[in-house]
Amino acid sequence: MKKMEAKLLSYIVLWAMVVFFVSASDPSPLQDFCVAVNDSRIGVFVNGKFCKDPNLTTADDFIFTGLNIPRNTSNLVGSVATLVSVDVFPGINTLGVGFARIDFSPNGVNPPHTHPRASEILTVVEGTLFAGFVTSNPDNRLFTKVLYPGDAFVFPVGLIHFQLNLGNTSAVAFAAFSSQNPGRIDIANAVFGSTPPILDDVLTKAFQVDEDVIRNLQAQFRTDN
Ligand SMILES: *[C@@H]1O[C@H](CO)[C@@H](O)[C@H](O)[C@H]1NC(C)=O
Ligand SMILES: *[C@@H]1O[C@H](CO)[C@@H](O)[C@H](O)[C@H]1NC(C)=O
Ligand SMILES: *[C@@H]1O[C@H](CO)[C@@H](O)[C@H](O)[C@H]1NC(C)=O
Ligand SMILES: *[C@@H]1O[C@H](CO)[C@@H](O)[C@H](O)[C@H]1NC(C)=O
Repeated sequence: MKKMEAKLLSYIVLWAMVVFFVSASDPSPLQDFCVAVNDSRIGVFVNGKFCKDPNLTTADDFIFTGLNIPRNTSNLVGSVATLVSVDVFPGINTLGVGFARIDFSPNGVNPPHTHPRASEILTVVEGTLFAGFVTSNPDNRLFTKVLYPGDAFVFPVGLIHFQLNLGNTSAVAFAAFSSQNPGRIDIANAVFGSTPPILDDVLTKAFQVDEDVIRNLQAQFRTDN
């Protein structure tokens, strides 16, 4: 092979690797499982959590219970998400999956939020939900559906999405994530409730409103005032 061709080939290989790494979400597991433990003396370091010695692993490491229990939705938005991430379910460490139960009171809303590290599939088991997400710039298209029990809807990774309980009974949904640690950013809380607050000048310009409007929103979402 000529020198030029070899160089070109090495560039192509390098780019293929870069594309592979930036397009991957959670890395693929390197073993059947890697139950998370806290203590480096009893394992090796993989993906941010240690792996339990496989010889000490039991079936109990692979079960999470209690998702049948409704949670109290008496809060301002009328919904509560019970997230099953690696932090509460060590058995999913390195597997690239997560789970959640979401309870809604009548007219409760799971407010607009994103998961920076996961796509989500949500399925309704009880009640009627209005669900939607918005695409990224420049078009910011809104896609919505009314979901009944047995329906599943997908929220692509990173996009702003929400659900509203349309019924006058409580609603229950379960969601699966493509990450053991999907992360969650509530838009209103992040923008108007950050600590310390984002400068007024930033928010008045960004939202094209007066300082009073920003102050009102901050009063809603700041927890330290
Ligand atoms: C794991 O480590 C964290 C941080 O050091 C600590 O807060 C937590 O209590 C530990 N969890 C267990 C189950 O030991
Ligand atoms: C696990 O058990 C096998 C079979 O008894 C043994 O060969 C291996 O060394 C053990 N591994 C560890 C990490 O203790
Ligand atoms: C739910 O939470 C609210 C507010 O914290 C509380 O007043 C109410 O008693 C709770 N309901 C139940 C059934 O625990
Ligand atoms: C909602 O409540 C109204 C009035 O209480 C009732 O007439 C209606 O049937 C209820 N709808 C559903 C879907 O339960």
